[in-house]
Amino acid sequence: MHPILPDRTFAWQALEDTLRSLLQHSGYAEIRLAFLEHTELFKRSIGEVTDIVEKEMYTFKTASGTSLTLRPEGTAGCVRAAIDQGLLYNQQQRLWYLGPMFRHEKPQAGRYRQFYQVGVEAFGFPGVDIELEHLLLVSRLWSRLGLENIRLEINTLGSAEERAAYRQVLVDYLRQHESELDEDSRRRLDSNPMRILDSKNPAMQELLAQAPKLMDHLGGESAGRFERLLQLLQEMEIPCSVNPRLVRGLDYYCHTVYEWVTDDLGAQSAVCAGGRFDGLIEQLGGRPNSATGFAIGIDRLMLLLEKQQRLAPRPLPDVYMVLLGERAEAAGFALAERLRDQLPGLNLVVNCGGGSMKSQIKRADKSGAALAVLLGGDEVESGEVSIKYLREEGKQIKIAQAELPGLLRDRLDTKT
Ligand code: HAM
Repeated sequence: MHPILPDRTFAWQALEDTLRSLLQHSGYAEIRLAFLEHTELFKRSIGEVTDIVEKEMYTFKTASGTSLTLRPEGTAGCVRAAIDQGLLYNQQQRLWYLGPMFRHEKPQAGRYRQFYQVGVEAFGFPGVDIELEHLLLVSRLWSRLGLENIRLEINTLGSAEERAAYRQVLVDYLRQHESELDEDSRRRLDSNPMRILDSKNPAMQELLAQAPKLMDHLGGESAGRFERLLQLLQEMEIPCSVNPRLVRGLDYYCHTVYEWVTDDLGAQSAVCAGGRFDGLIEQLGGRPNSATGFAIGIDRLMLLLEKQQRLAPRPLPDVYMVLLGERAEAAGFALAERLRDQLPGLNLVVNCGGGSMKSQIKRADKSGAALAVLLGGDEVESGEVSIKYLREEGKQIKIAQAELPGLLRDRLDTKT
């Protein structure tokens, strides 16, 4: 678990602002979720035989013996909150959340134990139009961020009944080839055979490519719904490839599942993943209702922005105010307050901690400010300020304090 340091938080905030604005402008409202939930919630929703529940949860017992878990993802907690708070009765909900998630995974580039997700969940939309809306939203995000080289892989898992029937067909096939399975897959044969399809083991690729496909075992309704979604995506010019082996690592999905993947991040290729999870609300004690959503890994998105040189630059101060001597202190802060009142867009740093002219100018330079505004005893006396240009040619000048807002306003106007 690593802190996000001040030289990076600017870019994080810029990304979060973009996400917020995009979601709010599409009718999504933020929900702030609990970080801790009863362990049982994740076991029931994500599934007992998944990597997350088997190996990755931070679980502990409270003094009274209750087992709690730091949230490894947001969907389960979001559904719980929506049921508990009565958000699902006869209404549609478009929700989003943003925050840290916790998984005890082996850390590596792009995979962390505390990582950030922005998640979107929509309740009460049975048709594939909501899947289309979500995919368009994510696609718009990529283009707004200037990102390239992210592709959409999509699949359908069918209904719970179709999946159960297919599961048996798959197990029969894999049993015939049990000797070719690796240890992990053999273990999963009884508990979670669909996840075997997801295996990255090169030795098993041929076997898995030949495996029966769920797509061929879908009923007409499920197949039609998937066809419709693919057709809509084509009409909206969202390229995608159908990956019949995409099953996802969480058990709550049905019908549509998808991942947005990139080759620019090494092994951790998924930057966004989601799908439909209609059964989960009922499973967690609510009235049956439809549900669809996705989550974007913000840490990975930041790595990708950096790789593709699209990180938002750090905003630098417009002005660093140098204060020389005791009299300049109160006068300088008063001037700074007036400037902040008059120019809300101004990025202004006032020197604190005293220092000689030389050392304050050094700090001004290090801050990245464009101008140093100097105020000493003489300037206080005469109602003036000196201006030193730190990044451009230009002699130091002295102007009346009253002229300073006008000069700065002109500079701010040309900046924007
Ligand atoms: P997930 O596939 O487990 O799905 O995670 C979604 C995204 O979170 C991944 O594609 C990845 O970008 C990021 N992520 C996951 N684990 C890590 C990690 N250890 N370090 C860095 N980034 C990570 C879910 O969590 C579902 N709740 C998504 C969803 C929402 N489905 C429906 N609604």
